[in-house]
Amino acid sequence: MVSAALAAFALMAAPTVQAQTAAPAPKRYAAPTAEAVAAARAKRVYDTVQPPNPTIVRPSLDNKRTANGLALTPPMGWNSWNKFGCKALTEQVVRDTANEMAANGMRDAGYAYLILDDCWAGPRDAQGALTADPKKFPSGMKALGDYIHAKGLKFGIYSDAGKLTCAKQPGSQGHEYQDAMSFASWGVDYLKYDWCHTGSRNTEEAYALMADALRATGRDIVFSICNWGVDRPTEFDRSLPWEWGMKIGNLWRTTSDIRNDWQGRVRFGLGVLDIVDKNEPLYPYAGPGHWNDPDMLEVGVNKNEGLTSEEQRSHFSLWAMMAAPLIVGADLTIMDDATRTILLNKDVIAVDQDRLGAQGRRVRDDGDLEVWSKPLADGGRAVLLFNRSGAPARIATKWSEHGYPDALRVAVRDLWAHRDLGRIKGGFSAEVPPHGVVMLRVKP
Ligand code: GLA
Repeated sequence: MVSAALAAFALMAAPTVQAQTAAPAPKRYAAPTAEAVAAARAKRVYDTVQPPNPTIVRPSLDNKRTANGLALTPPMGWNSWNKFGCKALTEQVVRDTANEMAANGMRDAGYAYLILDDCWAGPRDAQGALTADPKKFPSGMKALGDYIHAKGLKFGIYSDAGKLTCAKQPGSQGHEYQDAMSFASWGVDYLKYDWCHTGSRNTEEAYALMADALRATGRDIVFSICNWGVDRPTEFDRSLPWEWGMKIGNLWRTTSDIRNDWQGRVRFGLGVLDIVDKNEPLYPYAGPGHWNDPDMLEVGVNKNEGLTSEEQRSHFSLWAMMAAPLIVGADLTIMDDATRTILLNKDVIAVDQDRLGAQGRRVRDDGDLEVWSKPLADGGRAVLLFNRSGAPARIATKWSEHGYPDALRVAVRDLWAHRDLGRIKGGFSAEVPPHGVVMLRVKP
C-alpha cells in the first residue's frame, strides 16, 4: 500500500496524473509503515541534528522553496560509473567519450550531459579547495570542462554530502559553498550528490544546503540527489527523497544501485525488475523539473554478462515509460550496432522526453503479464505490453484501460518496429517475447 501521504500528495500536486484512470494498489512495493514514516519525520529537528556552526551557512528549508527551473524533461547523458567504476576513470576515457557522443549520434539524439562519477578527485589543497587527481586528470577540470563544452555537450560531476564520497575521496560536508564555486568555475552544468559517510546528518537539510550553494554561484547546475530512498544501507531514518526532493533538486534516486542483471538483490545492487517495482508506484511525484531516478542504464554494459538484448530493450522501454533520466553507462568506444539501435531509438526517446512529463504506470497487472500507460502532451498515450515471464505470451489491452472509449479508432505506431499500424478500434493485442515488450504510441 502506498502511504496516505503519497496519495494525498498526488491529489494536491499532480493534476495531470489525476486525469488518468484510478490507480490500482501497487502489489510489489514494500512501503514503509505509517509508524516508520512518523518516526522519521519526528527526527527532523534540524538544529539538534547538527549544532549551529557559524562557519556554515544554514540552508533554506522554506516549504515554498522551489528548485531551479532546470531539467524540464528528464536529463539525458552518460556517466562513468557503471562501466569504468573507480579505478578506470581517467581524463582519456572522458575525452574519448566526448568525441564519441558528438560523433555517434548520441548528442544529437539528446544525450547532453557527460558526467564524471566518483573517483575524479585528488586531495584538497592548502585553501581547502577540491582538486582533480593529478595523475588521472593531468589537464585539470577547467580544461576538461572546456573540452566537453567544445563538443557541444554539458559537463557533469560528482560529490557527496558526507565527509568522504562512497569511494572515500573528499566529500563536500563543511565545504558546500567553496565546492559549488569550484564547480561553477570549471563550467560544471550538473552535480550528482551522493550520501555516503554522512553520519547523523539530516538528508533534507544536507541537500538543501548544497542546492543553496549551487544557486549562489549564479550558474545553471542541474542537481541530482543520490540518497537512495528507503534503500539506505546503514541508517534507520528512512529518508523519502521524493517527499522533499522537488523543492531542492531536479532528480532523486529512488533505490540502491542498479546491477547488470534482470532480477535479484546482491548486497547494495538491484536487478532491473526490482528497481521497476520500487520506482513505478512513485509516479505521482514526477513532473517537469523533478524526476524519480531509478538509476543509470545498463544497456550495452559488459554485454554478454548481464542482460540479454531482449532484456536491454525492455529496460530502456521501461525507463522511458517511467520518464526516467536516460543516463548511459556503456563504453562508447566499443559500442556495437545492437546497443546503438536501442540507445538511439528516437521513438522511445520521444516518449521519455515528452514535455507533459507524466510518469507512466501499470494499468493492468496479471501477474507476469502487464500493461503500462503514459499520458503524452499530444493527448496520446505510450502503451507498453510487458511480459516478465520466461515464455512467449499474448498480451491484450483495451483502449478503456488508457482513458479512451473502446469504440474509438485510435492511430497506433509500433515503436520498436518503427511502423504505423493504422487506426484500430477497441484495443490491441500482440505476442510478446519472454522478458520482452511491445511498445506503442497511440493517438485518438
Ligand atoms: C553510490 C551511488 C552510485 C555511485 C557510487 C560511487 O553507490 O549510488 O551511483 O555514484 O556511489 O562511489
